[in-house]
Amino acid sequence: MNERISALLKRKPGPEIITAEGWVRTKRDSKTVCFLELNDGSCLKGLQVVIDKVSLNNDALLSSITTGSSVTCRGPIVESAGGNQEVEMASTDVTLIGECPVDTYPLQKKRHSVEYLREISHLRPRTNMFGAVARVRNTLSFAVHQYFQENGFVYVNTPLISASDCEGAGEMFQVTTLDFDKVPRTEEGQVDYSKDFFGKKSFLTVSGQLEGETYATALKNIYTFGPTFRAENSNTKRHLAEFWMVEPEMAFCDVTGDMEIAESFLKYLFKSVLEKCPEDMAFFSKFVEAGVDKTLQHVVDTPFAHLTYTEAVKILEKYNDKFDYSVSWGSDLQSEHEKFLTEVVCKSPVIVTDYPKEIKAFYMKLNDDGKTVRGMDVLVPRLGEIIGGSERESNIDVLTARMKELNLNPQDYWWYLDLRRYGSVPHAGFGLGFERAVQYVTGMANIRDVIPYPRAPKLADF
Ligand code: 4AD
Ligand code: MG
Repeated sequence: MNERISALLKRKPGPEIITAEGWVRTKRDSKTVCFLELNDGSCLKGLQVVIDKVSLNNDALLSSITTGSSVTCRGPIVESAGGNQEVEMASTDVTLIGECPVDTYPLQKKRHSVEYLREISHLRPRTNMFGAVARVRNTLSFAVHQYFQENGFVYVNTPLISASDCEGAGEMFQVTTLDFDKVPRTEEGQVDYSKDFFGKKSFLTVSGQLEGETYATALKNIYTFGPTFRAENSNTKRHLAEFWMVEPEMAFCDVTGDMEIAESFLKYLFKSVLEKCPEDMAFFSKFVEAGVDKTLQHVVDTPFAHLTYTEAVKILEKYNDKFDYSVSWGSDLQSEHEKFLTEVVCKSPVIVTDYPKEIKAFYMKLNDDGKTVRGMDVLVPRLGEIIGGSERESNIDVLTARMKELNLNPQDYWWYLDLRRYGSVPHAGFGLGFERAVQYVTGMANIRDVIPYPRAPKLADF
């Protein structure tokens, strides 16, 4: 395998003949030399290849090389005469692998809008911005595994097809092989799901948590990292219908331990990107979100703020005239409130705890007041909620009562209740919306631009 361009750019000048392969980003011509900027996605910068036209003696070849063509160049790495790079390649051995017709190629040299690029998702990774997003996303994925593997967590793959609505929000995509034109019905006229593939109603998972808990109550500390699906209104800048979630679950852990892990995990992710992607982070800081790299470093170095839901509501109520939705005790926090808490009140990420039980899922541990639950959300500036988590209800009677209050049938969750029946233990976990993490780190305004193929209502072109 030939060296990537990122490695070639770090080479010292020398007589060795090297092969560089990539796509032409730009081409500049003078009478005697042709400059190609060759990029292979390994880094933001390309390798400048300087071709001596007289020695090459093939103007036809050079004129058929255009922006977007794939080429291979061979030659020594030399000190660069220009000020933009330390080294470049001097080449007189150039092969055009694939042409790229200028008149129809949708990517021009100019800067394109993200809206335009969203229409050509198959070509957008070739731009500086989307190449950088892909690299940062890759670094974050790797850091997720690194953090948990270094801390003794076991990676568990939870199912994507599931019968239970973990969040109880009724936002599930149904999975069925029934033919809509000939749906089998029972004698009472109901759809007969016993004739469906799984013999009952089935869905794409909204979260791997419940299955994750079954492994945490055996292996102590586990994590999942996989796709999740929500048929909710995702016409916002922070919602997708298909997104990736990281869900650790820890046995012998309460909500305080949960918050400590969430904070140290996020800081580990941010630090990894700052260390491994300084060039991409400088790009985001310059072109996307001013100073995002410095801000992230500050977040890494500073403890997160903490507020209970009740304290947060007391503060927010004073500013109700500023909001589209006014707040009072019991209301769910909207993204405008979450942003206000992080950007104006705390000026940092903040962990909000002890939400009213009515606005949280059935599995959260009830506090002694009987009104609030041991949930904790991590909110960050620009986005609001990035992590949602809680200590889980470990008392079988309280949990069963909560299910009944919410019209959930405890029989459907017999296996989940078994975890409380057999060696029940305090346990806690959380879910990090992976795209929100990529969005936060890069400063990208729209979540549709941090996943290769965004899925949202009326948007699934591939
Ligand atoms: O707060 P949520 O709904 O929590 C859960 O699903 C729990 N079962 C997690 C757990 O405790 N194991 O979702 C967790 C996170 C949110 O904080 C948000 O970052 C992200 O998932 N998220 C979404 N990201 C993109 N698009 C959507 N539609 C999202 N919905 C939630
Ligand atoms: Mg949530």
